[in-house]
Amino acid sequence: MTVFFQRRSFLRTSLGALAVAAVRARIPARPLPALKEIAASKQLLFGTAVSFAELQRPECTALLTEQCSILVSENDMKWRATHPAPDRFDFSRADRFMAFAEEHRIAVRGHNLCWYQHNPEWLDFTVNAQNADTILREHIRTVVRRYAGRIHSWDVLNEAVLPAHQNPHDLRQCIWLNTLGEDYVEIAFRAAAEADPKALLTYNDYDIEEDTAEQQEKREAILKFLDRLRKRDVPVHALGLQSHLKPQPQPSQWKGLNQFLKEIEKLGLQVYITELDVDDSTLPASLPQRDMAVAAVYANYLRNILQHQSVKAVLTWGFTDRDSWLNHFRPRADGLPQRPLPFDENLQPTPAFFALRDALSVR
Ligand code: XIL
Repeated sequence: MTVFFQRRSFLRTSLGALAVAAVRARIPARPLPALKEIAASKQLLFGTAVSFAELQRPECTALLTEQCSILVSENDMKWRATHPAPDRFDFSRADRFMAFAEEHRIAVRGHNLCWYQHNPEWLDFTVNAQNADTILREHIRTVVRRYAGRIHSWDVLNEAVLPAHQNPHDLRQCIWLNTLGEDYVEIAFRAAAEADPKALLTYNDYDIEEDTAEQQEKREAILKFLDRLRKRDVPVHALGLQSHLKPQPQPSQWKGLNQFLKEIEKLGLQVYITELDVDDSTLPASLPQRDMAVAAVYANYLRNILQHQSVKAVLTWGFTDRDSWLNHFRPRADGLPQRPLPFDENLQPTPAFFALRDALSVR
């Protein structure tokens, strides 16, 4: 009898120990290294975009305060959120986001003041050549003044260059170009500078990281665009590289990007990696395979780009896979959720987290 009981309890403890070991192998010991601290030791800010939903979840906010020194609201400072009717502004969500960041002494990027999309419906029906100037200035003045002195950098202009649209100076077709011509760019930057002289003013764009001919053409257009603005003394201080990346068949050499960043540096502009994530929709279903491929892109991209001293901040576009915009924008054909971010849907660090940690450490 005694032997039997001893055996059972031995079995129980060894099974228990095995289970604990297995869980430990999956879940790295807490506390995790804080990316914000590693970044700070390299004169960098590290952070992420935050959705309104995430701000309501204590487990998410704990992760954000543990890991981030800079945040950006994913949607709540865009026109659609802040300016729902021609004569009405709504800052309820933006204020909540600011309060959270300030309570935890986290820097804030404002995103964004002028974009061809995510605008309220009324804008398209209301704006014309006569009132566009007033509407654009008034919006920028109102939003920027509200948070003046409290914003690290504003994405004043988002995605304004697109050579494929074949407009003069490669500007993208949009409501502001249609009504104001290219002057709208200058109007936007000057209005932002006037409303908050302390904020660093950013031009933010996507698809300018890879070595393809199309992205090279866009880089060249953006360089000319920024050069023209600097020559006209337009207050633009930084370039945002969105960095929505895809796994490539071959690891990229980033030749075009490196050359581009040298030119950007000559213009005296800072560089922020503003929306980093890796679209895994073309990868096989297997989680380990996907995670390794995604992490490899993080590692390869960051190790290269962080050599440029003009890079001052790294932000991912979302922090946990549960909330990635890619699940709506580029859903996987097999219906599985994407895994593009440093934490998975259970808030466990993914290999991308460790790729970030390592790349930031070796800068
Ligand atoms: C996206 C948000 O993540 C989505 O929730 C929203 O529906 C559309 O906008 N480039 C940008 C971001 O500059 O503002 C976009 O964010 C992603 C692409």
